[in-house]
Amino acid sequence: MIYPPVRRMSVDAQRRNFLRAAGAVAVAGALPPWSNMAAAATREEFTPDVEIELVARPDELQILPGRTTGVWHYAGRVLKGPADAVQTIAGSYAGPIFRLKTGQKVRIRFKNQIPQPSIVHWHGLIVPEQMDGHPRHAVAPGGEYLYEFEVRNRAGTYWFHPHPHGLTGTQVYGGLAGLFIVSDDEESAAQLPSGERDISIVLADRTFDAANQLVYEGAMGGGMMGGMTGFFGERILANGRPSLSFPAAAGAYRLRLLNGSNSRIYRIVRSDRKPLVAIGADGGLLAAPETKPFVVLGPAERAELWIDFHDESAGSRIALVAEPLDFGGPGMGMMGGMMGGMMGQGRGRATQPAAPQPFALFTVSRNGDRQVLPPRLSELAPIIAPQGTQRREFAITLGRMRWGINGRTFEMNGVAPDEEIRFGETEVWEFSNRTSMMAMPHPMHVHAVQFRVLERIGTPSGLDGLRSGFLDSGLKDTVLVLPGERVRVLLSFKDYRGLFLYHCHNLVHEDMGMMRNFRVT
Ligand code: C2O
Ligand code: CU
Ligand code: CU
Repeated sequence: MIYPPVRRMSVDAQRRNFLRAAGAVAVAGALPPWSNMAAAATREEFTPDVEIELVARPDELQILPGRTTGVWHYAGRVLKGPADAVQTIAGSYAGPIFRLKTGQKVRIRFKNQIPQPSIVHWHGLIVPEQMDGHPRHAVAPGGEYLYEFEVRNRAGTYWFHPHPHGLTGTQVYGGLAGLFIVSDDEESAAQLPSGERDISIVLADRTFDAANQLVYEGAMGGGMMGGMTGFFGERILANGRPSLSFPAAAGAYRLRLLNGSNSRIYRIVRSDRKPLVAIGADGGLLAAPETKPFVVLGPAERAELWIDFHDESAGSRIALVAEPLDFGGPGMGMMGGMMGGMMGQGRGRATQPAAPQPFALFTVSRNGDRQVLPPRLSELAPIIAPQGTQRREFAITLGRMRWGINGRTFEMNGVAPDEEIRFGETEVWEFSNRTSMMAMPHPMHVHAVQFRVLERIGTPSGLDGLRSGFLDSGLKDTVLVLPGERVRVLLSFKDYRGLFLYHCHNLVHEDMGMMRNFRVT
């Protein structure tokens, strides 16, 4: 598929694809460009502190030298409230960046101007079910959706992206993704680097054809093996650019990283091989800084780093490097023999390797100042499962060349008995990845909560080295479950009742149905 896909496929064909993917029964009739505006009028009075318009639309950008690239892009603007609540990244399909505070009430008017059904999900944010961007709320091309919610999450680096069933990967890949940065008083008290010393970078891999157009072979077009492993782009982009350069002061920086790739996993290192200092995970600041040899980021995961150039001499050049972990790719990295034989066949350009990419180059060129890394960053509860906690196992399964969870694939409104949750409960969920047929990692994501990682059981030797790169001590909404591993997480369903999703955030897997609902009542 080449972007924008409308060039190759009529809107009607897109719609048929969507209906097929979504299960025609579930959404038939739900797709005229309706909006939920009328419903909003009947809800009780909502007075927003911030009101934002967010438009998904096609665009043309200069990404590589030569021809411009057709992309899809979220254009955001503030209708009410502080002007810096929406920050655009000039010349990039990435973004915009929302900046809000805990406790603020936000209204977002979403306008779908791409030629596919779409809906926006606020990844990591805890919002009511009507506001969560469930695929059953997708609006047709030309449609609108009104979001109104209070920001309940603590400070952290959250994000937003489309979530229509069967088309999430296509739309994210086209360029639809932005950061949703939340701040609060606890975070301000930590006095971390701010302003130009607070840098956000979204990593994503992309493949371009000879005419500089994006190529995507996802759920529909990647062939049998592509559908099973995922889509691996040939180049790694940072904020939609081949690389980013920063003239840096000899001081401390806060760096927020999101892996916005559809399938690829990265190991983040410094070019000078000095250790990294991690200060935050998916759901905000860690309790205390952690020194790590590298940080591992699966799709949808975030990391916040403290990078201090104070001791570097003027003129030093230090890069952050994203090393692709080619579990499903030809290099195979440390997975080597486990799936080498199987993966060796039928691989198209969907799984070409990407080279390690120095994605952010800092040239220390200005005087700085000494800023002390706070020894304590935030209050986090200890990770303990109370006695008698309800336990559930969600096994990653493979049947008829499709990934599933406990042997099931997505049903638009379907909830199985073991997916019914009591409101207010704290539970332990175990994601087990023990399929012998095809061993690969799966980034498992749960909506409506931020969870804690209790334990990882059975990490295979050879992969246990990766553990030192995980940010398991923090609040998480997505956790990478390695092949052979069982990961237990602790979650509390105390915020909203309703129907929410849990799924693999390898977007090719998700689009092919590795996603389920759970219901909190
Ligand atoms: Cu970031 Cu359900 O997704
Ligand atoms: Cu989510
Ligand atoms: Cu998966």
